[in-house]
Formats: sequence, structure tokens, C-alpha cells
Amino acid sequence: MSSRATPAETNIVLIGPPGSGKGTQAADLCRRFGIPTISTGDILRAAVRTGSPLGEHVKTTIATGALVSDDTIVALVRERLSQPDTKPGFILDGFPRTVGQAEALDRMMDNRDLLAVILQVPEDELERRLNARRVCPKCRGIYHTGTRYGSEEEVCSRCNISLIKRDDDNLETIRTRLLTYRNTTEPLIAYYSGKDAAALIDGTRSTEAVNLAIRLEITERLHRR
Ligand code: AP5
Repeated sequence: MSSRATPAETNIVLIGPPGSGKGTQAADLCRRFGIPTISTGDILRAAVRTGSPLGEHVKTTIATGALVSDDTIVALVRERLSQPDTKPGFILDGFPRTVGQAEALDRMMDNRDLLAVILQVPEDELERRLNARRVCPKCRGIYHTGTRYGSEEEVCSRCNISLIKRDDDNLETIRTRLLTYRNTTEPLIAYYSGKDAAALIDGTRSTEAVNLAIRLEITERLHRR
């Protein structure tokens, strides 16, 4: 992008299809870099749970696997990025998802640098991962049944309560979400590549290998000064 972040600033957007590992990687990166993660999916799901006007507005959209309107999402992200804890940087998980959102983010960034980390995983693997995903209803921790990230009994290792399946992790909605990604979000690869701000990451490797590759990109490309 055209101008620089301050040397201490780490502004990351995580882009990738459903199940590519955005949430998994965001949780680790936010701990390592000491910056907040802003997950638009988590914010929207929290709104649905509380039954707020935003939640009522987006409930059906999320359930069908379509995208919430750019106006709604951009307003939400703008408000969140105005908070002081984002000054040293941020990890945006799942935003932007349209070229319109990316352009709005550019305006919010006021020409500061950011790196778009784009996770790439084939669709058959994504379907498999999303079918097997479980989440903790309390801490929102992400687990994978079969292999183990928490416990074989499907209990959260931190909160000791039963894990749940996300409502949109059913095959029909998963396929709509994948189609939405292909049609609407994939053009962002060209958008950020054109600004020399895209890091394409092979997301099929182990979570640790993916994490290492992302951190190398952050060090080499965002902090190279
Ligand atoms: P959101 O919650 O963002 O869902 P998503 O993009 O579909 O992504 P997921 O959370 O499903 O997957 P992930 O990439 O985070 O993968 P995870 O780390 O969990 O959005 C939900 C909905 O909200 C959207 O459909 C839309 O309606 C709305 N919305 C949100 N943002 C919006 C926006 N900007 N504009 C408009 N609408 C918006 O990993 C998945 C599984 O794989 C886990 O089980 C994990 O353990 C496992 N796993 C992770 N990494 C690996 C690995 N390397 N190897 C093997 N398994 C792995």
C-alpha cells in the first residue's frame, strides 16, 4: 500500500474461505503480537445471541450463508477500529469480504500499511473441516473432532463445558458459504496483490506450519524497515 504503518504497528487482515483457519490463526497471532482480534463473524453471532436489533437484522443472512450488507459491516468495523486498543495494530478476521469493504477499509486506514494474509485450502478439505468443527459456547475456542485440539469427549479444555456445532456448519449452508467466497471474496486476492499487500499462504499444512509462514510474512513484509 502507498504509505507506511508506524514501525510498531501490525495491521493484518485474514482472508480465506470458510474453514481455512482464520479464527484458529487469529487466536494465536493476537496472543503473540499483543494486539486485538476483530472477528466480524463473532461480533454478528454475539448480536444474534443477545437478540439485539443488529442480531435480528442479520440472523437469517448468517443462517443461509450469504453476506451481511457492506453498510452494516463497515459501520461495525469503523466503530471498533476507532477504539484505542487498536492503535498498536489489529487482526481483522473475516473482514473485508467484498471489494467495497476493502475500499472502505482503505479509507479508514488513512494510508497506513496493512498486510492481507490469504489462506488457501481446497474445497473438499474445507467441507471436511467444517463438518468436524466444534466450538466452545463460552470462550469461543475452536476445536476439531477426530484429531484433537481440546478433548476427545468434545469438552472445552479451558471451560470444561460441552462443545457445540455452529448453526451454519451444515452441508447446505457450508456449500453456499463456499460459493459466496468464490464469487464475492476471491476477487480480493487480485485487489491486494495489485497493491503489493497480499501474502498467499498454503493453509493445508499443520496449524503450526501455517502460523510460522504467516509470522515470517509479517516480519519480512510488514516490519521490513
Ligand atoms: P465467519 O464466522 O467469519 O465464518 P467463515 O468466514 O465462514 O469462517 P469460519 O469461521 O467458518 O472458518 P475459519 O476460517 O475461521 O476456520 P477455523 O479457524 O474455525 O462468518 C460467518 C458469517 O457471518 C458469514 O457467513 C456471513 O454471513 C457473516 N459475515 C462475517 N463477516 C462478514 C463480512 N465481513 N461481510 C459480510 N458478512 C459477514 O477452522 C475451521 C476448522 O478447521 C476447525 O475445526 C479447526 O480446528 C480446523 N483447522 C484450522 N486450521 C487447520 C489446519 N491447518 N489443519 C487442519 N485443521 C485445521
